[in-house]
Amino acid sequence: MEIPNPASKPRQPDPITVAEVEAIAAKTLSKQIYEFYASGSDEQKLLKRNMSGYDRLYIVPRVLRDVSDVDTRVEMFGSKLNMPIGIAPSAMQRLAGRGGEIDVARAAVHERVSFTLSSQSTTSLENVMAVKTSQGNSTPTPDFWFQIYLTQDLDKSVDLIKRAEVAGYKALVVTVDTPVLGNRVNERKNVLALPRGMRLANLEEDDADSAKTPTPTRNRLLMDARTKHDAKLVVELGGGEMHASNLSWAKTLSFLRDLTSMKIVLKGVMTPQDARLAILYGADAIVVSNHGGRQLDEAPSTIEVLADIAHAVRGRIPIVLDGGIRRGADVFKAIALGADLVWIGRPVLWGLAYDGDKGVAAVLNILERELSRTMALAGVREISEISSAYLAVANPTF
Ligand code: FNR
Repeated sequence: MEIPNPASKPRQPDPITVAEVEAIAAKTLSKQIYEFYASGSDEQKLLKRNMSGYDRLYIVPRVLRDVSDVDTRVEMFGSKLNMPIGIAPSAMQRLAGRGGEIDVARAAVHERVSFTLSSQSTTSLENVMAVKTSQGNSTPTPDFWFQIYLTQDLDKSVDLIKRAEVAGYKALVVTVDTPVLGNRVNERKNVLALPRGMRLANLEEDDADSAKTPTPTRNRLLMDARTKHDAKLVVELGGGEMHASNLSWAKTLSFLRDLTSMKIVLKGVMTPQDARLAILYGADAIVVSNHGGRQLDEAPSTIEVLADIAHAVRGRIPIVLDGGIRRGADVFKAIALGADLVWIGRPVLWGLAYDGDKGVAAVLNILERELSRTMALAGVREISEISSAYLAVANPTF
């Protein structure tokens, strides 16, 4: 399998939209890897709906306001971020470019944005954290968060959670929308194996081992787990059971609270009812997410459910939203409906394939520029001024 080397590619004109970065990534990556990243589950309906949902909302501009100094900065858990746009956890980033998670972390530090490392990373959580700590105390850096899938036997998650805390991750993002893996039709046809020397660095034993023994079978099974039966094979072969179908609110949240003093963030909340339960059971934040359309294909888009969830949360805990964010205007709309922060998943991978850490920074800069321009055009100077007063839905009588 070919892994692109960003340094050796011919220079192209700088892309000015996320769609252009994706077009470059689609040419740079092998078809297999591009499709692994790009795909959703089943009929790919939610994948499209996550994006098209934004087109059903308009932004209504106010005029004659001083927007000479638009400010996109926000705070999350007391730490300052340059923009309300951050990086969602996504698995196996070294498949997109050799620097993988290290490059993504570098871009996050450089741009000072929210960054969450996937537990299924191809670089160890300690090595990724070193990107932040090597900056020293004089440079302000964003907090790093760590994402996990809980295991059927919760005790099997203890070591990994402790490791993340010791390494200095500020929050533990617990992904709760994967009691079983979604039906990733594409991955079944198009079996993905990690190349020699690449491994799930937090979950598998050690580098030297995986360099000697390529793991196509293990990873084939890992990527191909679609049924409970297959998921068992993941348990045996993937170095830890990744999808727990036996969890409950009380058991899960009390386990996490007793174990760690990191902030606890639940990723994959899609209803006001679950948002209220998250608060009741002590979560510090939620991520409104449908896993980028990779789990339940019949679910609503995240932007559709956001307003009701924000209404139920009433500002008690921060709300992060991900899914389908591809333009600065999408960010504006999500904030207007109640998100405190949005994350981007696939656009980060496109940036990585385009130009490593600089490519990820380029994607963030594109979105930041689009967001500030949208704010100025709407007549808004600060993120806190963005509200649903600036939104309209298409007039049905028009
Ligand atoms: C993901 N996502 C994900 N989520 C998670 O909690 N842990 C993970 O390891 C992964 N891995 C992963 C891999 C790939 C290739 C994709 C595309 C997505 C979901 C991710 O965090 C996020 O919810 C979505 O990607 C957001 O949607 P967009 O921005 O990609 O449309």
